[in-house]
Amino acid sequence: MKKSLKIAIPVLVVVSLAVLAFPLSNNLAKRQIEEPLGGVSEFKPVSVIMQNKCVDCHTKGKTIYPFYTNFPIAKKLIDEDVQLASDNMPFTREKLLGLQEFSRLDLSKIHTVVESGEMPPAQYKILHWDASLSDSDRKAFISWIEAETKSRKGQR
Ligand code: HEC
Repeated sequence: MKKSLKIAIPVLVVVSLAVLAFPLSNNLAKRQIEEPLGGVSEFKPVSVIMQNKCVDCHTKGKTIYPFYTNFPIAKKLIDEDVQLASDNMPFTREKLLGLQEFSRLDLSKIHTVVESGEMPPAQYKILHWDASLSDSDRKAFISWIEAETKSRKGQR
């Protein structure tokens, strides 16, 4: 074997492993999931989905920064997303735990993005392979929104 190949092959192997590990290592970050304390029973599974798949952007202080945060521009892009998402549609701790209601308008916006698959955003799903909403996640959201809407009709 040529001398240059003897060096090139291990280098190639290390580089490919690093590339493969890139999104995976990100998925290994463990989240602390809190048990919801209130709300309709249909909210429980939704709270867990939100705590896993939405809070990185929609809840200030809950962002798990990936290791590539230190790459040029990455932190700025992540922070812009968090700012935009948590200003526009904050999933506060009280809301995540079922202690504070989502407004009707928020419920209808959530319904729209869950049906359309707009959220979580595509660029996030590339690096968080397990963040896409599954069919059962989607069903959980829809049943919650229906139950929530029904329970409020009785009250107001
Ligand atoms: C990578 C960050 C990120 C993640 C993860 C994320 N969102 Fe968002 N979300 C955003 C941003 C940014 C906006 C603001 C979009 C805009 O105004 O253009 C937004 C807006 C929204 C809106 C408001 C849409 C509207 O019509 O105003 C809803 C509802 C929403 N997200 C729900 C969710 C749900 C539910 C999840 C989890 C399943 C989720 N998002 C995960 C970044 C994120």
